Amino acid sequence: MAALSSAQSCRIYSSLPSSSSSSSSSLNSLQRIAVSSPATKRFLPAKVSLQSQPVSHRNVVRMQQDGAVATTVTAVGNDTPFNKLKEGLLSVTSSEESKEAAGVDDDNGNESTVSITVVGASGDLAKRKIFPALFALYYEDCLPKHFTVYGYARSKITDAELRNMVSKTLTCRIDKRENCGKKMDQFLKRCFYHSGQYDSQQNFVDLDKKLKEHEAGRVSNRLFYLSIPPNIFIDAVRCASMSASSGNGWTRVIVEKPFGRDSESSAALTKALKQYLEEEQIFRIDHYLGKELVENLSVLRFSNLIFEPLWSRQYIRNVQLIFSEDFGTEGRGGYFDNYGIIRDIMQNHLLQILALFAMETPVSLDAEDIRNEKVKVLRSMRPLQLENVAVGQYKSHTKGGVTYPAYTDDKTVPKDSLTPTFAAAALFIDNARWDDVPFLMKAGKALHNKKAEIRVQFRHVPGNLYNRNFGIDLDRATNELVIRVQPDEAIYLKINNKVPGLGMRLGRSNLNLHYAARYSKEIPDAYERLLLDAIEGERRLFIRSDELDAAWALFTPLLKELEEKKIIPEYYPYGSRGPVGAHYLAARYNVRWGDVGVEQ
Ligand code: BG6
Repeated sequence: MAALSSAQSCRIYSSLPSSSSSSSSSLNSLQRIAVSSPATKRFLPAKVSLQSQPVSHRNVVRMQQDGAVATTVTAVGNDTPFNKLKEGLLSVTSSEESKEAAGVDDDNGNESTVSITVVGASGDLAKRKIFPALFALYYEDCLPKHFTVYGYARSKITDAELRNMVSKTLTCRIDKRENCGKKMDQFLKRCFYHSGQYDSQQNFVDLDKKLKEHEAGRVSNRLFYLSIPPNIFIDAVRCASMSASSGNGWTRVIVEKPFGRDSESSAALTKALKQYLEEEQIFRIDHYLGKELVENLSVLRFSNLIFEPLWSRQYIRNVQLIFSEDFGTEGRGGYFDNYGIIRDIMQNHLLQILALFAMETPVSLDAEDIRNEKVKVLRSMRPLQLENVAVGQYKSHTKGGVTYPAYTDDKTVPKDSLTPTFAAAALFIDNARWDDVPFLMKAGKALHNKKAEIRVQFRHVPGNLYNRNFGIDLDRATNELVIRVQPDEAIYLKINNKVPGLGMRLGRSNLNLHYAARYSKEIPDAYERLLLDAIEGERRLFIRSDELDAAWALFTPLLKELEEKKIIPEYYPYGSRGPVGAHYLAARYNVRWGDVGVEQ
């Protein structure tokens, strides 16, 4: 498909050796070959429907290129020549220019276009993540030839002002500086703005007209990214679906959490969304699923013989899912106080990682097969009891002459708020593979570091010949696999090793895959992967409604009990390692948190 010419080069797919292929040459199929990518199907103009198309990934494995894509980003200075160029560009857009910019090509009416509308364009998420991710995709040639980005919000600004705003947050990757300014210009030319209310049919009708102008009679595919507060989700979805849906291509809507506050509100939200959209059109985003190392979990496990056989209660003593941030709720207290850390991080990000980690081997890499397995894990989880949870809230702390605020110092937070900013929980999956293995979660704000990691602690070696060399604390000598999701992505395995020399001294060492040392390219931001997936119609990394129900079913009773009983959180100083309650909780299950202690 011509419309795909650029998008196809962006992802590399390698086919697995199939049973029908000749065995000796099949290994070569792991060389990087772009096979008919799912994207090819998705931009086919033939389908005239509001619904997106299911896409099969059978026998297709996505493998990251060596030194794959990029992430960390460097802002481009304001005084670069390209910025001067941009100043001119930000101020004018004739309709002809707009057409050209959007890739409109009137004599080719059969091609398809993608219009991406960021609803809530002036919000923080849009500025920090969505526009930069779209630019990164454009830079990497991942977007289709014909695409337009529309910012939609209430403020009355012009295209030029939107471009100006967006341009401030666009960055170039360290390894992609070349031509970056030019690419930014080209990208900005494809960004437009439409001012409107989120509940106004008429405003969406007007948007529809503008989108049609850019689509110029091609098959139009439309993606709406709802980057707005949950209380206006439904209005926006109603208006977008009734007045600005594509007439001849697909229409998809990305929804950001929070997906409700509990089972009831989540079910009500789903029901309301489904009045206007089919489940296949709803892309519930959990950006942790787009993180490189989370995406790698299944590869690690299912394509390395040394891991999968160990992945059960037989060899694994406990699994720890740890999230910490070294800053508080700065500026987000209003939102946060209504949700708390359990809803903000555990019920979604950490639980999703847990489900991926613990699922059985899916039938295939199809989205439905993977999500079927994840939902089984969630539904096998033991109801979460209050005694298996520890909650905390940060208090003010002065260090080095600097005073850090308490959570309740935030003006948008009630002084007597009991909302947890920290929580630890012990969860169990009551199935044959994981019976009685504690899955310990810990998430907190205003802690001593920023980190997200998965720690797998293995059992003791039975009848270990070297027990004597370890002293009395055998726990210290068990193997531990650490998957550091961020920062400084890494996978390392702690092993016991003989310290070189004539004696027999054993020491701990890491077999270490440190991404920055191994791969020369930077890692893409999670939003890039997820936006691209949504454009391609790939649902694997998005949450299906039954997964969401199961996740809420697990946490809702606990959340209600915490709130009804007004459980007082344990206060911990800003910048500390969190409440000691987390250690008592772990100790009940004979577990030590892997991220504290001398050697991590
Ligand atoms: C969001 C939470 O989902 O994830 C925030 O609402 C949190 O509270 C953020 O700060 C963390 O994301 P990341 O990608 O910075 O680890």
